[in-house]
Amino acid sequence: MEIRCLLLFFLPLTLEALAPAEEFFDVLGTGLREWRLVFRGTAYINKSMYTAYKDGSNVPAVVRDSCRQTNWTQACDTHYRNADALNHWNNVVEVLLGVLDGGKLAKTAVFKGDHTSYMNWFSESHYINSCWADLKGQHPNYFAIQGHDTANRRFFISHNYNGCQNDAGWVVVVDHLNKQCDWEKDEAFPIIKYAAGEKYENWNTGNFLNADALVVFVKYSGGNSIVG
Ligand SMILES: *[C@@H]1O[C@H](CO)[C@@H](O)[C@H](O)[C@H]1NC(C)=O
Ligand SMILES: *[C@@H]1O[C@H](CO)[C@@H](O)[C@H](O)[C@H]1NC(C)=O
Repeated sequence: MEIRCLLLFFLPLTLEALAPAEEFFDVLGTGLREWRLVFRGTAYINKSMYTAYKDGSNVPAVVRDSCRQTNWTQACDTHYRNADALNHWNNVVEVLLGVLDGGKLAKTAVFKGDHTSYMNWFSESHYINSCWADLKGQHPNYFAIQGHDTANRRFFISHNYNGCQNDAGWVVVVDHLNKQCDWEKDEAFPIIKYAAGEKYENWNTGNFLNADALVVFVKYSGGNSIVG
């Protein structure tokens, strides 16, 4: 009896410990379910992904289970925002961005989470590594979730601008029906374009693919993970 009381007394009742276990996944195959799914943005649904991420206003009140898990072959046709996780951005040590294409995580990028907010972790200064080998040590002209605000280029890592024909970069969410450059024109939005190889490309002529979704996971300090 005495022992039980002591255990209860010392139980670390942090917010993350109270997060539902089904929100945690073994995204990188380490054997630990340590990544909490906090966002999924879906391509071509004609609803702003940036707004969905920022305040959830484009996200349905009830989101299908298929949008809240990591079996990437399942169909999802809305954005998903984990409001609890994004509104309580505490003790985050790492953030993982994933680019989903054809039922697979085509690209991942990992960022430092300490001293960040849910809006500013996606940046040059918090970048750790990714599938784009040449990104380290670069100074992209845009590297932010907000990206190029007036052009609605979000989750944007741009190598350079120099007139539409010469623009080059790694990844972008074109978040409206854009009329500005040929490389970002399409019939619906958001368009998620990513450099398919290991380096940045010219948006017009380079090896780019259009992804199905973007996903964001966080890892917390204090070992809040589930083994198995
Ligand atoms: C993933 O979802 C598909 C489609 O619902 C299903 O056929 C498959 O068995 C699932 N895979 C796993 C590992 O659960
Ligand atoms: C998105 O908008 C375009 C242009 O209005 C339309 O052609 C397309 O069918 C829409 N797609 C969806 C999924 O709503």
